[in-house]
Amino acid sequence: MYSHEMIESIKKVEATRQDRIGADLRRMTADEKEQLLRQYHPDFVEDGFQSLQVGPNRGDKVPHELAELLQAESRLARMKGPEGMESFEAVLVAPDYETDVLVIGGGGAGASAAIEAHEGHADVMIVTKLRMGDANTMMAEGGIQAADKEHDSPAIHYLDAFGGGHYTNRPELLYKLVTEGPECVKWLNDLGVMFDKDADGTMVTTHGGGTSRKRMHAAKDYSGAEIMRVLRDEVMNRDIPIVDFTVAIELILDDQGKAAGAVLMNLETQEILIAKAKTVIIATGGAGRLHYQNFPTSNHYGATADGLILGYRAGAQLLYADTLQYHPTGVAYPSQIFGALVTEKVRSLGAQLVNRDGTAFMNPLETRDVSAASIIRECRTRKKGIGAAEGEGVWLDTPMIEMIHGEGTIEARIPGMLRMFGKYDIDIRKDPILVYPTLHYQNGGLKINAEGLTDIDRLFVAGEAVGGIHGRNRLMGNSLLDIIVFGRNAGRNAAALSKSVQTGRLTLDHVKRFASELEKAGIHPEKVSPLLLPTYTHGREHD
Ligand code: FUM
Repeated sequence: MYSHEMIESIKKVEATRQDRIGADLRRMTADEKEQLLRQYHPDFVEDGFQSLQVGPNRGDKVPHELAELLQAESRLARMKGPEGMESFEAVLVAPDYETDVLVIGGGGAGASAAIEAHEGHADVMIVTKLRMGDANTMMAEGGIQAADKEHDSPAIHYLDAFGGGHYTNRPELLYKLVTEGPECVKWLNDLGVMFDKDADGTMVTTHGGGTSRKRMHAAKDYSGAEIMRVLRDEVMNRDIPIVDFTVAIELILDDQGKAAGAVLMNLETQEILIAKAKTVIIATGGAGRLHYQNFPTSNHYGATADGLILGYRAGAQLLYADTLQYHPTGVAYPSQIFGALVTEKVRSLGAQLVNRDGTAFMNPLETRDVSAASIIRECRTRKKGIGAAEGEGVWLDTPMIEMIHGEGTIEARIPGMLRMFGKYDIDIRKDPILVYPTLHYQNGGLKINAEGLTDIDRLFVAGEAVGGIHGRNRLMGNSLLDIIVFGRNAGRNAAALSKSVQTGRLTLDHVKRFASELEKAGIHPEKVSPLLLPTYTHGREHD
């Protein structure tokens, strides 16, 4: 239930509600946005970052929490003492698994990659830290963009995403994303994803922040769970082997420096296993559980940037690792669900962001970085936030939705939100909800080309571990799209490449090389990486 202060503020929100409906809330100019971001977006908080001292991105700025892991010690070294690496190299000659395509990660990108690799007649296996589908894909709510309606086109989709990304998106990646979008949504639909449709079967599409056309396809407000359900079924129907509760702790390269597998660790027994592969796909997802700048997160527990660490230590470059996405509407109250995602679909259905006085302070469909920065300004500088146990927030005026679209809309279109707040006696049809930005997505990641390949031969990346598709700010719904487009792309290309691969002698030389680079730079790491699970979970034997 809401506090006295909150109830008094809600009265002001109610008093202005009718007048706010249909009000034309001005969009900010490019200059206003630029100034706002520089002053209030966490990407511009200088104290939050440091320069890397070793590796392919030496000199580049990344968040402290990521730098510590990129420049940490290998788990292998910590497990076996100083001579350890040699003892692991000895077991490389007798791998536990051999496959054409090794997919690391069991979310939407990994599943899509595995399905296409299988379709390409390759032997493929998935290794996943938790269970198949324990991933950010599963937690995606609002939808997937694709320009498949008459009033729209991939070119318009490109322009929206390029503008939203501050014109920094890699053109060849963005081109692929938008041009293959319509076919990917059809692929999902054909596989059995139950997208929202009108009575005549036409897909229902809505706006997201920064979109000029309604191209968001959704399955109510559990779009990611529905997509993951279908992808997981497809992986299982094809009998693609899944090794779960097992995590990749290092990549293996061959004596030519090409990707050749991974060292795995069973999370329950700590047993080390060797997977030899002709090609490797990193699909390990995001980094929300690193809680950059102490933000809460909407991410699942396994989102600890593991793929970035593995790839970087092996010599793959990062791109835009200094830019993160803070979803404007994370739950600010109640504490039990602090940081959880309140889908942008709530705003696309008409709910406005309103301050303690009941004033709408921005157009609700500004891009995410601008919206997050506006909320932070409203609370920090203008002092118009509403206090809660974990900090403060602003109102997202959900009762507007049914005033605009009619009774029953909330239950029909965003039932997950209704249920999530309902558990805490907040009826979002009657009362607004308190929100504040939450760490949601890493815009940056490993650099790939349009084939999905990194600088390291035979090493592919797909999904949130990729940097560059979205530039410095992703639009809603382009992540569910990229995991499908780039997951399938990587799976197809890895399968084709594996046909001509002769793997050389397996080595961990790159791990030793990286350790000596650290030594030379005078870095004596206390931490080991990859992190695997956030530090507040149990069973952290090797940290
Ligand atoms: O707001 C949302 O539903 C999140 C979507 C996304 O990150 O694409």
